[in-house]
Amino acid sequence: MPGVVRILDLVKNYELEAVTVRALRGVSLTVDEGDFLALMGPSGSGKSTLLNLLGCLDRPTSGNYYLGEEDVSEMEDDQLSEIRSKYLGFVFQSYNLLAQYTVVENIEVPLLYQDRRLSEETQRRCVELAELVGLGDRLDHRPMQLSGGQQQRVAIARALVNDPHLILADEPTGNLDSRTSDEIMHLLAKLNQAGKTIIMVTHETDIAAWARRVVRMRDGHIESDEPNPHPNGHIALVTRH
Ligand SMILES: Nc1ncnc2c1ncn2[C@@H]1O[C@H](COP(=O)(O)OP(=O)(O)OP(=O)(O)O)[C@@H](O)[C@H]1O
Ligand SMILES: [Mg+2]
Repeated sequence: MPGVVRILDLVKNYELEAVTVRALRGVSLTVDEGDFLALMGPSGSGKSTLLNLLGCLDRPTSGNYYLGEEDVSEMEDDQLSEIRSKYLGFVFQSYNLLAQYTVVENIEVPLLYQDRRLSEETQRRCVELAELVGLGDRLDHRPMQLSGGQQQRVAIARALVNDPHLILADEPTGNLDSRTSDEIMHLLAKLNQAGKTIIMVTHETDIAAWARRVVRMRDGHIESDEPNPHPNGHIALVTRH
């Protein structure tokens, strides 16, 4: 399978007034299509920094980043935002929904940035995405009328609207109780089984147990990179006789 993500010796320094914070000190990583990766590690180890670079929300100090065939490490801002909207879907801990918009309108938001009127077909697709995440009966509700888990499901549907190659999630269950976290992880596992590549930051071993691969960071380095042979939510193939 082709590599979706390939980073080589990625370095990120934050220059503050008096000091340089070395957030990533040379990270190399390849993620194949269909993988589901949990990024773990102590606070300050560089997880969000790495996810932001992978999401083309920031640029590395040095190193290379290939997303599919494209070398994005040298791109200008407008090229990066095009890459983001074409290839990437984001899910954040805090959902980041627009309060005045309905469920369907929130799902449509990434399409509005592309500055074109939404066709009926596109609008129908947004309704289908709402149904996919189990919110078919909440289409006209606003975020305040939804539970945390439902809001995160809207955010996941929104992340899918451009049919991204890669979904990036920073602590997607960080604000949710354990039962609701399970629902969200079921949904992400289902998307992964349907072929979506996912990179997810989490602090929790229970949440990382849903991923196919666990990468641990420490002090801006990758400390370990292990496959998870039995990810949660993975539907085993049953052999019939
Ligand atoms: N915008 C910034 N300016 C300066 N330093 C930053 C900035 N963002 C992060 N850092 C520093 O870079 C290092 C890595 O931070 P990062 O946010 O990537 O850690 P993290 O692993 O996501 O931690 P947490 O688990 O607490 O979210 C930390 O030392 C942090 O203080
Ligand atoms: Mg973080």
